[in-house]
Amino acid sequence: MDYKLNSEDKIWLERTFDKIQYKMYAQCQRIGDIIPYISENGVYDDMGERDITWWTNGFWSGILWQIYNATKEEKYKIVAEKVEKRLDKAFESFDGLHHDVGFTWLHCSIANYRLTANEKSKIRGLHAANLLAGRYNLRGKFIRSWNSDHTGWVIVDSMMNIPILYWASETFDDPRFKFIAEEHAETVRKKIVREDGSCNHIVILDPFTGELIDNPAGQGFETGSSWSRGQAWAIYGFALSYHHTKNEVYLETAKKIAHYFIANVANTGNIPLCDFRSPKEPVKFDTTAGVCAACGLLEIAEGVPEFEKDFYVNSAISILKAIEDKCCDWDIDRDSIVSHGTVAYHDENGQHVKLIYGDYFFIEGVLRLLNKDLFMW
Ligand code: GLY
Repeated sequence: MDYKLNSEDKIWLERTFDKIQYKMYAQCQRIGDIIPYISENGVYDDMGERDITWWTNGFWSGILWQIYNATKEEKYKIVAEKVEKRLDKAFESFDGLHHDVGFTWLHCSIANYRLTANEKSKIRGLHAANLLAGRYNLRGKFIRSWNSDHTGWVIVDSMMNIPILYWASETFDDPRFKFIAEEHAETVRKKIVREDGSCNHIVILDPFTGELIDNPAGQGFETGSSWSRGQAWAIYGFALSYHHTKNEVYLETAKKIAHYFIANVANTGNIPLCDFRSPKEPVKFDTTAGVCAACGLLEIAEGVPEFEKDFYVNSAISILKAIEDKCCDWDIDRDSIVSHGTVAYHDENGQHVKLIYGDYFFIEGVLRLLNKDLFMW
């Protein structure tokens, strides 16, 4: 897309991309094919050793494919392929695999397949898509989240996973996967998105009828509050459903949530609180919500008419710039870039930390604006 950027933003983007390259070059040399999650004191440990099915395990590979695509430097591709092979072990598990298989395999295998047409990657992607499709509840019309006793649970994060179903339909030339994605998106729109553009994190639906039973707080402050990363997943997720289906309802839904997000993030200098409806003190930010929402705003900009585009693009740039200004660590000897990510409002050990997905969406946002990104959704 032609972003019609002013010269100040162009210079900022080029400089930021240079800094990303220095940082990721050093990080790739240092950590290689470990599977990072949280960087503590500037050091990542290997989540792949602790839990090979953890939901964030695809993001390092996603970063590597983005940088490879932008620079064509072979070393990133080699490491990304090693990470992808390590993740094969996750397919041996059943209980560990859940609604987040999209996040994982979109970022390793589908990214690889889109760039190199690697047949093994295509097969991995199709396995993951079948696992996600197998979670569909025909009566309730939703893809269930999590395993064990979570029958009937649906979380807004799922909207970022269903693109693997759109991809499978396109790749298999079989609309079944897309039908499931569309039915699920409709259920999320009706049961999770609220009138004012805010969202629930979790709903519990009757597995026999799909009727709403409860809406627990999840990772936000409390039931009825507004977990900012959940709002970001919904913005980007609905924009991506629009991308794949061209159903205007999804674009309108993404816009409604985006307007709510933009209005709220303006209250805190474009760096989102972890929950937009939480007490004033203590102040808890979550930059991961900001960078993901920024990517979603750029995806909305692709879909809206010319006269609306600037609003979404400029909002995305304001968020990315604020986070770059206040919450980025460019020291090449320390792992991870984006600080002030928060795992969950009440997770005392996971507040204002550096999370791999914060880096992923920051990098994707910058590369999108430079037209150097790989579309892996
Ligand atoms: N998908 C889990 C989270 O956003 O923390």
